[in-house]
Amino acid sequence: MSSNKQHCNSYEWRGFMLDCVRHFMPISFIKEILDQMARLKLNRFHWHLTDDQGWRLPIKARPLLIEKASTRIDGDHFIGGFYTEEQIRDLVKYAEARDIVIVPEIDIPGHVCAALHAYPSLSCPGHETRIPNTWGIFEDVLCAGSGETAIFLNDVFETVLDLFPSPWIHIGGDEVKDDRWKNCPKCQKVISDNNYPSERSLYSHILSPICQLIRSHGRSVIGWDEMLESCPQEDIIIMSWRGEEGAIEASKQGKKSILCPHEYFYLDYPESKDDPIPGADWMPTLSVEKMKTYEVPKIEGILGLQSNLWTEELLGPKEARHRIFPRLETLAKKCHQKTSPQLKTSEKVN
Ligand code: ACM
Ligand code: ZN
Repeated sequence: MSSNKQHCNSYEWRGFMLDCVRHFMPISFIKEILDQMARLKLNRFHWHLTDDQGWRLPIKARPLLIEKASTRIDGDHFIGGFYTEEQIRDLVKYAEARDIVIVPEIDIPGHVCAALHAYPSLSCPGHETRIPNTWGIFEDVLCAGSGETAIFLNDVFETVLDLFPSPWIHIGGDEVKDDRWKNCPKCQKVISDNNYPSERSLYSHILSPICQLIRSHGRSVIGWDEMLESCPQEDIIIMSWRGEEGAIEASKQGKKSILCPHEYFYLDYPESKDDPIPGADWMPTLSVEKMKTYEVPKIEGILGLQSNLWTEELLGPKEARHRIFPRLETLAKKCHQKTSPQLKTSEKVN
């Protein structure tokens, strides 16, 4: 197997994210993708493991996450699945043998309906939340005033740190609504007890202890670009997805970033108007030609590039493969064409 180590004109971060929640993807398919990533010398597999529609990661101290939150009911069928600890440890080794790091993502404090379904005491209303069969941004979030939230997150992230040797742990942080916090007496009490200026501070009230836990294990925290606004004081790597603004702001704040602006890097977008996705008319198209035109902004702190595949409209490996290729190859080419200011004069080729 040829080495997948960094070359002088490649970015340090050459990533691909697979959403295994909206539709479950079997381990055999993930191994196939890791093989393809190794062929293309991509080196970070970002594994999106939790979301509103399901929870795929076993946490011994929280068995209901698998018993109740790993499947959803659509009509008369069950949709879902989960990975065992053994499968995860084996996959981590499989990736390591290909010089790929598996970077797990546990998305908090929003995108948690499935977890709230299993453990209602984590939610503001305190009653059971339905696991949705639809997509979007839901109101349900972790309750900052529930004594259970911090204990739950500790259980989850201790397991994540044990299962994944990755130097980076992704904690999500995208698309969080404030409405539940505004209407929750427990959350309002946290705001007044701490003299917080607004509900936005609850975001860091929940996330900062987890950032500290991750750092105390010598690992770094990654979050989606919303975290620049919600947890500006945290030293995290920003994944800039809503555009390049996240990376630009991160650079101003002296933070590192990974670029995955959706209009150039989201592989769930159809390649052309001839390949429409039923139910997703809002999606822009993303052709190979368009990806090729992407120019990395000339700012400090960019670790690299990543493509993401969200699977709301993709039922399984067959549909996912159709979206991933050939555009993953285009991503890889971009990842191996590092531009200034990341490329030092002494490193320049020819
Ligand atoms: C995202 O696409 N919500 C990160
Ligand atoms: Zn609350």
